[in-house]
Amino acid sequence: MSRLLLVSNRLPVTVKAEKDQVSVVRSAGGLATGLSGPHERSGGLWIGWPGDVSRLSQAQRAKVDAQLAELRCVPLYLSASEVSRFYEGYSNRVLWPLCHYLLDRMPRQDRDWDAYSKVNERFAELAASHYQPGDTIWVHDYQLMLVPGLLRKRLPEARIGFFHHIPFPSSEIFRTLPHREALVRGLLGADLVGFHTSSYVHHFSNTMLQVLGLETEVDHVTHEGRTVRLGAFPMGIDAAAFERLAQEQGTLDEVKVLRERATGQRLLVGVDRLDYTKGIPRRLLAVQRLLEREPSWRGRLRFIQVAVPSRTQVEDYAAYREEVDELVGRINGLYGTIHNVPVHYLYRSLNERQLAALYRGADVMLVTPIRDGMNLVAKEFCASRPDEDGVLLLSEFAGASNELCEATVVNPYDVEGMTDAILKALEMPAAERQRRMRALRERVKAHDVHWWVGRFLDTLQAIPVATQQPETA
Ligand code: ADP
Ligand code: F6P
Repeated sequence: MSRLLLVSNRLPVTVKAEKDQVSVVRSAGGLATGLSGPHERSGGLWIGWPGDVSRLSQAQRAKVDAQLAELRCVPLYLSASEVSRFYEGYSNRVLWPLCHYLLDRMPRQDRDWDAYSKVNERFAELAASHYQPGDTIWVHDYQLMLVPGLLRKRLPEARIGFFHHIPFPSSEIFRTLPHREALVRGLLGADLVGFHTSSYVHHFSNTMLQVLGLETEVDHVTHEGRTVRLGAFPMGIDAAAFERLAQEQGTLDEVKVLRERATGQRLLVGVDRLDYTKGIPRRLLAVQRLLEREPSWRGRLRFIQVAVPSRTQVEDYAAYREEVDELVGRINGLYGTIHNVPVHYLYRSLNERQLAALYRGADVMLVTPIRDGMNLVAKEFCASRPDEDGVLLLSEFAGASNELCEATVVNPYDVEGMTDAILKALEMPAAERQRRMRALRERVKAHDVHWWVGRFLDTLQAIPVATQQPETA
């Protein structure tokens, strides 16, 4: 196996500072879990941002650096202005809404392209400085779309892969972007560009045609004398770990408490980052409509919505939070009693056990993003149900719906339709719940994160790079 150089905006670790103590903890996220095996085995490096360390003293910074080095993580520290312009500005105010079809949320005039380009240069420079001949470089996500092209200029012979973790939108959307050409050229610096679904591959192919006039074959395109492979690689989760956790006594005890507190009630659950792509307001409206339309369910339903704070410095996220707060208050005001409220809303992150208990205890899991590259929560829910029970309500606009066809698939823009689907889920016979969940679990377990990493890296490493010509500027 060749040495792996992983490049992602965030490192797979979190810097924790409590009083005088500072430590670096591995993140539990899908990317970190899936890539930790190949990262260890290949003896490679992971390059990325360790998060905001501006409040740490010099001594604490040195301690963080030493701990990162032990994990073979190479930090790229972002200045306050880079966080505000590269990360919040171009990545999350421009590319994020664009890729999620939300053009109205983009600023009329983007002023942060230069910061995006400069930080991409910094990432490419750092990765190139650690490169050794024979290494495989794997770059991740929309924050770093220019990096493959910048690396290709520095390292014409390198084997470079790129994975796009969010939707790649229709070319009609992507080509509205003033810097569309530079971004597409950036991706074409890779030998393999991967997406979650074949629709995203198709959208990218159309974009290349529209923006650069490039004709694509099914799985590759030739550009300036080089062949760039394209492919769909649906990302999975660490299904075995979720299954294990869902069976542990501690988790089952938590489930018991959860169910006892909701005696006589059915549990609907939503777990998301608080992001305007996740469809939380319409989901809440569907619950409100259900209570309005079906008085017999009043008092017999509890909807637990957990939202983890995210990108809080971006105005649209703050406004979205207010919208959600207001809706929760309205529904509880209308349908709560002095004994209970229909919506139990938490604005915080949960630990793994609490998450597993929620998944395991839910009657219906509501995963209704208005657009989502994949959505791992849907897969985590299935993996956490060794009891083969629980209904998954899944948006047709989540990449996961391509694979999880036994879910109850809904249009998240159709509030009335979602209300019907929730009712149907609540009334679904046990045998049908079991049949669906069994099929969902088989797929989630077979196509887990290790399968995803293996397929991407096998495809990338099978590409003969030695014969390639350097890209002309
Ligand atoms: P995204 O990458 O857009 O956040 P995904 O559904 O693909 O969406 O991944 C979200 C990840 O964050 C999942 O692994 C999920 O377990 C985790 N997560 C989401 N909400 C919470 C929460 N409230 N507490 C802890 N983890 C959460
Ligand atoms: O899904 C895209 C993604 O960038 C993930 O890689 C990441 O876990 C999530 O969004 C949260 O993003 P951020 O790094 O902005 O907190």
